[in-house]
Amino acid sequence: MGINIIGTGMFVPDVIAGNEDFARIVDTSDEWITTRTGIKTRHITNGTLNFQMGAAAAKEAVEEAGIDPQEIDMIIATTVTPDCLTPSLACLVGKELGIESAAGMDLNAACAGYVFALDVAKHYLESGEFETILIVSSEIITRMVDYSDRSTCVLFGDGAGATIVRKGEGMYSCALKGKPQGADKIFTKLPAPNNPFGKNEFDWGNDEMNAAPDYFMQMAGNEVYKFATAAMPEAVEIAAQKAGIGVSEIDMIIPHQANVRIVNTAIKRLKLPKERFYVNIQEFGNISSACIPLALAQLSHQGRLHKGDKICLVGFGAGLTYGASIFEWE
Ligand code: COA
Repeated sequence: MGINIIGTGMFVPDVIAGNEDFARIVDTSDEWITTRTGIKTRHITNGTLNFQMGAAAAKEAVEEAGIDPQEIDMIIATTVTPDCLTPSLACLVGKELGIESAAGMDLNAACAGYVFALDVAKHYLESGEFETILIVSSEIITRMVDYSDRSTCVLFGDGAGATIVRKGEGMYSCALKGKPQGADKIFTKLPAPNNPFGKNEFDWGNDEMNAAPDYFMQMAGNEVYKFATAAMPEAVEIAAQKAGIGVSEIDMIIPHQANVRIVNTAIKRLKLPKERFYVNIQEFGNISSACIPLALAQLSHQGRLHKGDKICLVGFGAGLTYGASIFEWE
């Protein structure tokens, strides 16, 4: 069984921060950011909550699909930056859409979230449990960015992407992977509790994690870079193998947008023409799990996805998680 993405949508906030804006707040330059990452601008929330961004993207997807939102029977939201610890982003988005009845849950596989969510959706569709699934990926990454840390703050932006997914008839394959031993390579800590009974401090079993401030993202950039450059081609190759096709048969690869140099390394390793990789990092930076569905929406709206095209999505992120899926556009 394949998947049929019948609607796509995206939303980005209207405040745009350019590289020169960062050069005014940390010791950096447009030249450094452009050559080391490929990023020129990122969109940054201006008072819009994560669920409001997600709902805006979802509404566009519902409209493109031409369905009534009441037909959605499951909502899977992917995020690492929810507005609330509870309820889920999925339920907040469902409320905003006016949906009366749908199962909602959040999935956190960091920047690989959409690839993981699509596979979960595929299995629920295949089982017959649900017929119309909204996957909404929305992130306010700037919520956990330390704007005094030049090695991370220049990389991230905010935004959302959404898709409406139903059963399809084409090919689908997926490889979900992870390296939990790298869980301390990117992390954002929540504060210890403040209860009157127990000890209100934690030992993470790791000096670096103990010393890190709450709420701010910490990243071992070089180590993540090495992991990502190997993980991306590996996941694509496994997904292609599972699909029974050669990598050269893939028409369009939509990679997670973390650093254009990571994408360029994958292009070399997979020996594919550059034009088969979609890159929009220059405009949006890294929006974690929203990167891939936002790119899907852009490509769909531009009429660049055609029936029968073999599309590959490949993501990687904190966890460390990674994965790729390949499916035919219907
Ligand atoms: N402006 C100017 N200089 C900067 C800088 C910035 N914004 N950020 C870091 N530097 C400096 C460093 O301090 C270092 O200086 P030093 O040599 O004096 O110590 C120098 O640039 C090189 O740092 P390095 O970390 O080796 O740079 P890099 O080329 O590896 O690029 C990243 C850093 C973070 C862009 C890169 O490692 C990366 O993209 N990693 C993967 C991140 C990722 O994918 N994260 C998300 C996963 S979903």
